[in-house]
Amino acid sequence: MDKLKIKGGNKLAGQIYISGAKNAALPLICASLLTRERVTLTNMPLLSDIRSMNLLLEQLGTKIDSHDEVIDGNPCKVYSYQTAQPASLVAPYDYVRKMRASYYVLGPLLAREHYVELSLPGGCAIGARPMDIHLSALEQMGASIEIKNGYVIAKAEHGLQGAHLIFNIASVGATCNILMAATLARGTTVIENAAMEPEIGNLAEMLNAMGAKISGINTPILTIEGVKELHGVIHKVIPDRIEAGSYAVAAAITRGKIELINAQAATLQTPLKILAETGVRISEKPHGIIIDAENCVLEGKDIMTDYYPGFPTDLQAQFLTLMLTADGASMVTETIFENRFMHVPELLRMGANINVHGHASAIVRSVPKLYGAQVMATDLRASFALVLAGLVAEGETVVNRVYHLDRGYEKLEHKLRSVGADIVRIKDDQED
Ligand code: EPZ
Repeated sequence: MDKLKIKGGNKLAGQIYISGAKNAALPLICASLLTRERVTLTNMPLLSDIRSMNLLLEQLGTKIDSHDEVIDGNPCKVYSYQTAQPASLVAPYDYVRKMRASYYVLGPLLAREHYVELSLPGGCAIGARPMDIHLSALEQMGASIEIKNGYVIAKAEHGLQGAHLIFNIASVGATCNILMAATLARGTTVIENAAMEPEIGNLAEMLNAMGAKISGINTPILTIEGVKELHGVIHKVIPDRIEAGSYAVAAAITRGKIELINAQAATLQTPLKILAETGVRISEKPHGIIIDAENCVLEGKDIMTDYYPGFPTDLQAQFLTLMLTADGASMVTETIFENRFMHVPELLRMGANINVHGHASAIVRSVPKLYGAQVMATDLRASFALVLAGLVAEGETVVNRVYHLDRGYEKLEHKLRSVGADIVRIKDDQED
């Protein structure tokens, strides 16, 4: 398994180009199952999660091709998907266990083919992450749902029927799955307490461009009027706000200055506001954001994660790590997932002073210095937090199990090296 070797102490300066959003691309890929025509996605990120999703769709009978393009002066990957006729309606365990977002095939396939067998994703490092909201919503839309041998068997003999749904949690995954399913249902579906993450807006806009009738986009109440069929489309993946936020923290923690090209400040209002409150200087540009922490003395600030537009849980680990270098203390409260402090034990090994109470909150106190160490990546965002700590720790940090990072950060070490980080990837076979 590859590792990252980081020598701390360099101030980062320069420009980082923000890639397309993983959490937008994954449902967009599955939305291509809703039509027999060709769906082309531009600004696609080069990530292992995208490759995993492509393998699953090929298994379902989707023809995929890709090529490179230069869009707005930036090189990017374009993927096209066409499922003229599904070859299978089964999403097998081996695919789903590697990536839970495989469950995004459920809504589209059930709406189009009226039958799906989906391996239940099971829990993951950050929590149980059940699918009860997805499944109960589909039942309210007329599907029969059976759980057998670890699989969901979903049937809707006469197709799905529109329904008035009220989500007890503003689930991103359930909102995407039901939004896609409802586009081909008979009648109107209303989703109350829908998630409002920008990736959902990116999906809804593509579905409407395919002929769907969705209103209330970017609000907590989505109304979808079912249509007979959807047609092909060419659609651009929005920039990754979590990648942008992660590199914003890299600039702040090294007291450097980085321009995040293509980052959309409008999708990062809460994290940017809190970063500014710690003392970081932030300026929004037409095509990016400048994060300037040069000669800043940062002040500890409290954060509590929340649904969008609140502070994103996917930036909690990164922000907590930044607070290790700020003056004073910071209370970090995680409200979305039940086990999302796995970066803490590893940071403690680097000399951090953090006290976790239960599963929900951690008090972070500044320390004069962090020390490089061998650390273990556990989940995608916790792993980035360890890289951030390595960037400022005295000496060398080796982050193991880098495959976690490759799921969500395109060309991580190249992007960081381009702004002055001393970071190299040790390939598995290169191990000294
Ligand atoms: C999406 O996960 C993202 N993943 C996550 O990003 C992100 O952390 C999360 O949304 C919250 O923003 C993708 O988009 C691929 P949820 P998702 O459904 O859809 C509970 C990353 O690092 N819940 O909004 O799984 C659930 O357990 C990943 O890129 C139910 O109880 O998140 C959690 O506590 C990590 N029942 C809460 O809701 C359900 O049926 C929010 O989950 C569904 C969810």
